[in-house]
Amino acid sequence: MRLHGATALVTGAGRDLGRHFAEQLLRRGAAKVYATARRPELVDVPGAEVLALDVTDPASVAAAAAAAGDVDLLVNNAGISSGVNLVDGDLDTIRLTLDTHVYGTLAVIRAFAPVLAGNGGGAILNVLSVLSFQSLVGNNAYAVAKSAQWSLTNGVRLELAAQGTLVTGLVFGPTATRTMKEYATEALGGGALPDGMLNDPVDIVRTALDGVEAGKIEILADRYGAAAKASLAGDPRPFTLEPASAA
Ligand SMILES: NC(=O)c1ccc[n+]([C@@H]2O[C@H](COP(=O)([O-])OP(=O)(O)OC[C@H]3O[C@@H](n4cnc5c(N)ncnc54)[C@H](OP(=O)(O)O)[C@@H]3O)[C@@H](O)[C@H]2O)c1
Repeated sequence: MRLHGATALVTGAGRDLGRHFAEQLLRRGAAKVYATARRPELVDVPGAEVLALDVTDPASVAAAAAAAGDVDLLVNNAGISSGVNLVDGDLDTIRLTLDTHVYGTLAVIRAFAPVLAGNGGGAILNVLSVLSFQSLVGNNAYAVAKSAQWSLTNGVRLELAAQGTLVTGLVFGPTATRTMKEYATEALGGGALPDGMLNDPVDIVRTALDGVEAGKIEILADRYGAAAKASLAGDPRPFTLEPASAA
């Protein structure tokens, strides 16, 4: 899909990866970018149209689709890293994790599918994770949600093929966003991840947008993503920060 001249909508664009998506799309010549957020007053992306959108709120999703009828690229970036396990984690938190990544993404796709069809098909980019393919004690509810979001991505791709919509999944590992830095600090008991372990969000977003422009259906944007996908050929394995031996 050609991004120059596109009209994009990015969820969770108030900060970190979402904000980078909005900024880089504008830099690539997108005609319009809707930078959406639960708290639109916090969005600061010069040149973007700011729109309120909470992906877990059906009324908010419907209002955004009604307000942004010119969209031909939808970037489902919004997410939470809840940091809970499955067996003894708080069930409401587990549900919120699934509500956000799975039902939230699905709600936005269902609302915008007719919009995309009306604008020539366009594209959907779903922001997945290495934890779509691997588990991680301490964040297993998130892994369940990201795994389901991967399957959702694949199903929606088939369902929207007839209307000409490219549906792409973006897979990558730990990236230096606020949430990841906070999570890593907590998980490491106040420490920090060694240098070089975290991706630069600018690189991940650039690789993602290159992939959409190239018409890819799945983008393994870093070494973690490639190793996690390759690991599916063997027995299930947990995520580790040393992805080199993937087989
Ligand atoms: N960072 C990583 O290491 C990493 C790795 C793999 C995949 N990912 C994925 O990349 C995406 C972005 O991650 P990030 O690290 O940039 O996360 P982040 O810093 O926590 O940002 C997440 C964004 O999503 C928004 N959000 C959360 N719930 C929402 C809702 N119900 N409706 C609308 N927006 C909502 C947040 O808005 P508020 O400001 O209102 O909270 C925030 O803007 C997520 O899907 C995440 O799963 C991240």
